[in-house]
Amino acid sequence: MSNRTPVDGYKLVILDCPYDTWENPETQAMFGRMVGLKLRGFRPYYDYGALPVDTTDYVGRHKLICRDVNGSLVPVAGYKAVDLSRCGIHRVPFPALAKAKASGAIMHARVIEEILNTAINRGEELTYEAALTMDPALHSSREFADTIKMMIPAIQYWQNRDYRIPSSMCTAVIKVKADQFLSTIGFRPIQIEGGIELEPFGALHLGGEAVRPMLLKEFTPGAEAIAERLRFFWNSRLTIADDSGVRELMRAYKKAA
Ligand SMILES: CC(C)(COP(=O)(O)OP(=O)(O)OC[C@H]1O[C@@H](n2cnc3c(N)ncnc32)[C@H](O)[C@@H]1OP(=O)(O)O)[C@@H](O)C(=O)NCCC(=O)NCCS
Repeated sequence: MSNRTPVDGYKLVILDCPYDTWENPETQAMFGRMVGLKLRGFRPYYDYGALPVDTTDYVGRHKLICRDVNGSLVPVAGYKAVDLSRCGIHRVPFPALAKAKASGAIMHARVIEEILNTAINRGEELTYEAALTMDPALHSSREFADTIKMMIPAIQYWQNRDYRIPSSMCTAVIKVKADQFLSTIGFRPIQIEGGIELEPFGALHLGGEAVRPMLLKEFTPGAEAIAERLRFFWNSRLTIADDSGVRELMRAYKKAA
């Protein structure tokens, strides 16, 4: 009987806050490959001008699903998380808030700001999850895309558990049905009083493409089951991060805030 699993041949690389380890050649190599993946991944879907990279890439946590190509780990899919606490440390606006404001979605911005303030007051971490994409050269294979989409719930689940993240936010692009996919993990449209869902808004950085603001607090049973099945995949990840205590600094910052 074969012990093969669908994720054989893939390795998860977590490039956590490249700002901290920039001098490491591995960081620079992986950062460059990550930018290449995003540019290639977004290009077929958006008009020229859409920019899937920004300042938060330097301080975000890149979750890169890689393949070994001639001894180098090459990302073939991935997405990033930006911690609310990191935004505080580096004085950059939380991306969901910045995007709503820049797009003129004033009501959305107000609601998002309330959620952020609640997390800050409770001393809880909150992430913005963004820029999910796959290498277009491989994406035409449905088997490849389905395998990647099986790994995402597991990555999200173990990240939130291991990094102690009670909730995550995203602005899901409707035309690629990201909102539908993310709802299978547990992301839900952000609600205002009376249980009314926030409408999608046109995201300026994507040329006005409609995005749905969503919040993840509880994982679906399906996502938990996949996470359990793929626990070994998460456990065998390679992390490139600073281990000199910056995380402690972040905790202290959060407490003091
Ligand atoms: C997000 C992503 C990884 C999802 O991949 P996927 O689940 O395999 O879905 P696909 O991209 O194959 O297709 C999703 C839908 O987008 C639609 N679509 C819209 N514009 C498209 C375009 N320019 N090219 C291809 N598909 C397009 C397709 O019709 C498809 O709907 P269908 O399933 O009913 O046929 C992939 O769409 C991608 O890399 N998109 C670019 C980056 C992005 O927008 N990320 C989302 C951030 S929230």
